[in-house]
Amino acid sequence: MGSLIPLFAANWKMNKFVREIPEYVERLLGALREKPGESLLGSKYDVALFPSSTHLIPLAQNLEGCRIQLGAQNVGTAKSGAYTGEVSPAVLREIGCQWALVGHSERRHVYREEDPLILSRLAAALEEGLSVILCVGEVLQERKSGKTFQRVETQLGILKEARIVPNLYKAITIAYEPVWAIGTGENATPQQAQEVHAFIRNWVTTRCGGEFGKQVRVLYGGSVKPENSAAIMAQPDVNGLLVGGASLDPLIFAGVIRNGLKS
Ligand code: PGA
Repeated sequence: MGSLIPLFAANWKMNKFVREIPEYVERLLGALREKPGESLLGSKYDVALFPSSTHLIPLAQNLEGCRIQLGAQNVGTAKSGAYTGEVSPAVLREIGCQWALVGHSERRHVYREEDPLILSRLAAALEEGLSVILCVGEVLQERKSGKTFQRVETQLGILKEARIVPNLYKAITIAYEPVWAIGTGENATPQQAQEVHAFIRNWVTTRCGGEFGKQVRVLYGGSVKPENSAAIMAQPDVNGLLVGGASLDPLIFAGVIRNGLKS
């Protein structure tokens, strides 16, 4: 897990009705409380929820007064303007978001978003004061043909282009999500994850600077569940988890967190 404060992020994707939010929040908070009056959230870890953009305002209202943070699943490339279908990073801030995901594999592969667009989203989000989770990861064919590091390195390249200044180091988190592990039930082994996480940290250190490399959290995502979160979190360069399917049930998500923190 390393010495950085771990982050457990729930990516709801295009799931859930708005009416399900109050019960979800209540059950998640309940499950994270070890004893009445003593919340695990008081201890040193972060939790962030990433719902559809329609759910952000009601979720923000339900999260008022607690430490769970809020994030959007994607973010527009400018403060405002003629960008049909996009959500402005300034508006995301206005409604209480701290986070945005950029470059999620479903955006890259289903909606054909490529690195230049992902760079614009990242830059706009940072400019408006959002923190970002930049998602990277190889497809199965790339893994099989030994091109994992090459693919990840190309995707990380936007961090170099973005010229991240020291006061933004903490605003950037990287999620390694092998595409073949997302939603498939087949997670990367803890060793496979560690190998790529170490590569990512090393890349950031050599290309963007040692301080950035030390401070950047690298999350793992791809078929995380309560049964595998401890072993994955036990790896020294894994600083948290990005959880899709297993985050839809608050009790299962709490199980991921609880087991992950045991490592
Ligand atoms: P999964 O999704 O946990 O359902 O595999 C992870 C993600 O896409 O962020």
